[in-house]
Amino acid sequence: MLQTRPGHRYARLMSVGGYRGSRVVDNAEMCTMIDSSDEWIRQRTGIVERRWATDDETPLSMSVAAARKAIERAGLVPDQISAIIVSTVSHFKQTPSLACEVAAELGCPAPAAFDISAACAGFSYGVGLAEGMIRSGSSDYVLVIGVEVLSRLTDFDDRSTAFLFSDGAGAVVVGPSDVPGIGPTVWGSDPKATKVIEIGDWKQLTTAGETPYIHMDGRTVFLWATTFIADKTKEALALAGLAPDELDVFIPHQANNRITDSMLRHLKLPESVVVSRDIVHMGNSSAASVPLGMEALLESGEATSGQTALIIGFGAGLVFSGQVVTLP
Ligand code: ACO
Repeated sequence: MLQTRPGHRYARLMSVGGYRGSRVVDNAEMCTMIDSSDEWIRQRTGIVERRWATDDETPLSMSVAAARKAIERAGLVPDQISAIIVSTVSHFKQTPSLACEVAAELGCPAPAAFDISAACAGFSYGVGLAEGMIRSGSSDYVLVIGVEVLSRLTDFDDRSTAFLFSDGAGAVVVGPSDVPGIGPTVWGSDPKATKVIEIGDWKQLTTAGETPYIHMDGRTVFLWATTFIADKTKEALALAGLAPDELDVFIPHQANNRITDSMLRHLKLPESVVVSRDIVHMGNSSAASVPLGMEALLESGEATSGQTALIIGFGAGLVFSGQVVTLP
């Protein structure tokens, strides 16, 4: 009979660290690039300004900056990281993975390292994978990073999407725990909706010298997020054995404040629940948006370590993923 490894009983988030593109682009500046107005953008999305990477800020540099913070805050050193999972749709190389490049830059000796493509749901996918890896015994400390430079994939001839996107990285260390710190992951996809959000073929970069832009049917995503995804959010809460009034914090993917408002109505969360509104000053940073929102709430003191938070991501694929976590 084959021998298997004993795993850890439970897993938890040990820390979170973030990095935001350093260029602040407010709605007034955005409206010099597209035919829109500050009022329209605020009313339709809540966004006041967004953060873009400067030329010297890359998916690698932002990932490493966020990861260094998370590793230090977990009280660890890079040698102790046994696996790195990076979620991104804006790393312009098939191989090596960004995770391997992060490992090299951090000086981790020999971690398992791989990238995943699950767009705005990618961070939660990564947390779900990390939890399983720790409980199965294949890893002790897993670094999960969500990182994007969406400003470089933005079509400024498309005023229906150009004002949304931003650049940044968020990282967590997931490690063993004596008590459950990560609830069951609710995840899935809609294979009928592969065309709803697309990034153009990267072959364009070499053959035509063109940028592969993000194309999105915003109305379809909006409807899907406020109905189907709102139900999935309820499911993640129920699977963790929590009633709405037992939740402390809600951190949905920062896609649109109106989507968040609709989810809140659907979930019937009490007013005491702290809700991430990081989109206001960050825009939509896809895989980075949930960990950045988490770090912001913890740093501002609006949320505190040990509280129970529901996280949910949804986006290109279409894919979704969510779970309840104990805040680091
Ligand atoms: N400024 C002014 N008017 C605009 C703009 C603009 N920037 N963009 C569109 N409009 C106009 C449209 O032309 C339309 O005019 P019409 O009624 O005369 O035709 C009107 O505003 C309404 O357009 P809608 O597309 O219906 O606007 P909506 O309220 O749906 O907002 C938005 C658009 C913000 C994109 C919204 O649909 C949304 O947030 N969707 C979800 C996005 C999302 O969650 N994406 C997932 C993640 S992305 C990823 O995975 C990388």
